[in-house]
Amino acid sequence: MRSTDSSCMAHSILCVVGARPNFMKIAPVIAALNSASPHFFVRLVHTGQHYDAAMNHQHFDALGLPAPDVNLEVGSASHAVQTAEIMRRFEPVLDEEQPSAVLVVGDVNSTLACALVAVKKGVPVVHVEAGLRSGDRTMPEEINRILTDQISDLLFTTERDARANLLREGIGDERIHFVGNVMIDTLHHNLKKAVPVAWTMRQAGLADWDRTGAGYALLTLHRPSNVDDPDTFKSLLESIADLSRRLPVIFPVHPRTRSRMEQYGLARFIENFPIMQIPPVGYLEMLGLMKDARLVLTDSGGIQEETTALGVPCVTLRNNTERPITVNEGTNVLAGNDPGRVLAACEEILQSGGRAGRIPELWDGRASERIAGIMQEWLGNGRRMVA
Ligand code: UD1
Repeated sequence: MRSTDSSCMAHSILCVVGARPNFMKIAPVIAALNSASPHFFVRLVHTGQHYDAAMNHQHFDALGLPAPDVNLEVGSASHAVQTAEIMRRFEPVLDEEQPSAVLVVGDVNSTLACALVAVKKGVPVVHVEAGLRSGDRTMPEEINRILTDQISDLLFTTERDARANLLREGIGDERIHFVGNVMIDTLHHNLKKAVPVAWTMRQAGLADWDRTGAGYALLTLHRPSNVDDPDTFKSLLESIADLSRRLPVIFPVHPRTRSRMEQYGLARFIENFPIMQIPPVGYLEMLGLMKDARLVLTDSGGIQEETTALGVPCVTLRNNTERPITVNEGTNVLAGNDPGRVLAACEEILQSGGRAGRIPELWDGRASERIAGIMQEWLGNGRRMVA
């Protein structure tokens, strides 16, 4: 309940999540805002963009996230319909909640949709993980990033280059704060609880997966640019099959990837290889799988950062990244989706052990604390409070 005692006035922050990568980012921010209580009164809205248990509840439980106060239950649809539906359903929630600010994270459709509703209602928008740019406008996330940053009042960045990106787009310097990486806060907080690989594989019914004891490569794949075109997807799967002759591959399969594989009849290209397909795993299982992998192949954004923080070699199956620090300082190599380049990058890692890399500045597990401190000061400057 909100207090009516004016000495206990708090700023109400309406936090938004929608898709899997949002959960790891919002968890430490909510914890930090709650620790700074009584300054903040935190409410959580889940748009329902991701709805499968495997993409959802198991993450909430593992991350200690409170159950959402509101679930908009939008589900899947085209980008236009999904974005519009989130906006339509978020508006009455915003009217009801009357928050001091709406806080969004990352770059998914839910991020942009809720930020857009808020700004048009005159509610300040806070964007965590601002200023990342791949320069590739065919990526839906790039559009979401650019537009969300344009309409945000307070922008928190994970790496120094992000400020230059934002300044170039005309965003005022005073709105930008370099705080570090909240996803790495979550990693620090949970590393000790990472689930052992053997346990994860047993749960997936593959107790005898490790026949060689040579270790494994971990694969994740879900970007439309890799899985929506049957030829591209097929040649990627064929290169993974080649790699698996050298090193077994563990492959938690994203629902989008699973449905494309079935639609295009591609499963047969990896069936008879040591490629262990398992359902999407929870956060603590994923940490365990990443931490002990000899190398990780991915097209995810967050995994590029997590492998850098863990010092595990990463081959990114994209031609660009919005997270250049993982390449310049971390363990990440961009290999695109050309089979020759992918296999050469893996071979190089298997022979040399991969680049050592270093931990980027302020990826120290305390980004959320900094965010809470800055928000306290920012909101203290005459913004509306709830009583
Ligand atoms: C979304 C994000 C992407 C993020 C990814 C992580 C956008 C534009 N994309 O992509 O940035 O990296 O989440 O997973 O917001 N599906 C299910 N169950 C679910 C969710 C999705 O089966 O719980 C299937 C549906 O077939 C759906 C498809 O996956 O059509 C795509 O889901 P969607 O949320 O549109 O995008 P993602 O590819 O998951």
